[in-house]
Amino acid sequence: MDRFNSARSLVSALAPTRPVTCLRPAAAARASSYFVRNFPGEILYAVKTNPTPEILDAVYDAGVRRFDVASITEIEQITRRFPGARVSYMHPVKSRDAIGHAYFQYGVRDFALDSEAELEKILSATGNADDLNLLIRLAVPNFHAELDLSSKFGIEPLAGADLLFKSRSLARRLGVCFHVGSQCMSPSAYGTAIHMVRDLIVSSGVTLDIIDVGGGFPSAYPNMAPPPLNVYLGEIASALKTLPVSDVCEVWAEPGRALVAEAASTLVRVDLRRGSFLYINDGTYGSLFDAGVPGFIFPARAIRPKGSVPGQLMPFSFYGPTCDGLDFMKGPFMLPDDIGEGDYIEIGLTGAYGSTMRTHFNGFHSDEMAVLTDAPMLTMYRAGASTDWPSANRPLQQNAGKTS
Ligand SMILES: Cc1ncc(COP(=O)(O)O)c(C=O)c1O
Repeated sequence: MDRFNSARSLVSALAPTRPVTCLRPAAAARASSYFVRNFPGEILYAVKTNPTPEILDAVYDAGVRRFDVASITEIEQITRRFPGARVSYMHPVKSRDAIGHAYFQYGVRDFALDSEAELEKILSATGNADDLNLLIRLAVPNFHAELDLSSKFGIEPLAGADLLFKSRSLARRLGVCFHVGSQCMSPSAYGTAIHMVRDLIVSSGVTLDIIDVGGGFPSAYPNMAPPPLNVYLGEIASALKTLPVSDVCEVWAEPGRALVAEAASTLVRVDLRRGSFLYINDGTYGSLFDAGVPGFIFPARAIRPKGSVPGQLMPFSFYGPTCDGLDFMKGPFMLPDDIGEGDYIEIGLTGAYGSTMRTHFNGFHSDEMAVLTDAPMLTMYRAGASTDWPSANRPLQQNAGKTS
């Protein structure tokens, strides 16, 4: 894969006519290494967030040996790429054939569930296996998250106590997992969820072998500056101390976004300008899904092939290339006021839920990729230090908006 020291060098060398996913594997390695060093338990990378091989390798090389998978395709990819890695099937709803395939063909033993019907499926599809690690997904508040994941999955505490009780004698190891919602802006959400687990242990009278705090750890975006990640980890560590569990109880986390959001940007070209609307060659059916209805505001910087003097910054919205009106990204994205057709824009922080969401809708699809060696446009992480964290008062590093 081609390597460049910046998106500007890439544009100078290639003048790409299609969108380019610009990978920064070093950023994935830095974030993964932080979690491996500082999280008080096991890190399972949520593969769905970005399954690009270069990113997976960076996460693995940083010491992550466990993976949260949602499908047989992800299981195949991980077991082929990293023989010996442990995969955990954390999707709470799976087909019978997928469960059987995972258990018998790939040796998967960790399964999440949030209903009795799923428990029955797991047992019958594995031939009533006696070596299962079962994790009951608890519904927890997602108030502090940008993306709510609580309506679709998770069992309410009352029913959860029953399911936990039933599962105890069927599981080799039994755990509870939850998801506080993606891009969780308040560390207290983890404390609240762990206290719900404590109440569940008390009401069910069941002992737990695993507590899985899920994903949800945030990244920095232009309109969102979350507290430093060490505050999240501190909240988790102190809430865990209140649980009535033994010393051998395992703690797991399934971060996605926090490990890889900084590890890619998307390079697009402007096809047309209409006032404060830019028609660009990638959109919500491509790598920019989260800029659509979820309304994420990504950092953006202009790259002018002709190197013209940058104008003042002003807010823009984007339209993607397809003919669907939903292919719209409101922003605002701050860019020079004289930007126009033929200029490029580097849209940063698209490493999480970016290129993995691309479709072929309207015939627009680009799998062009390159590796960039410069810094991400925003970061939660500072290079080099062993505790790489901005303190609560330290502003996040901002490189966005400027013309490169
Ligand atoms: C079961 C599960 N674990 C982990 C994640 C990763 O979450 P995040 O990217 O918010 O860290 C997700 C995201 O959808 C998920 O569904």
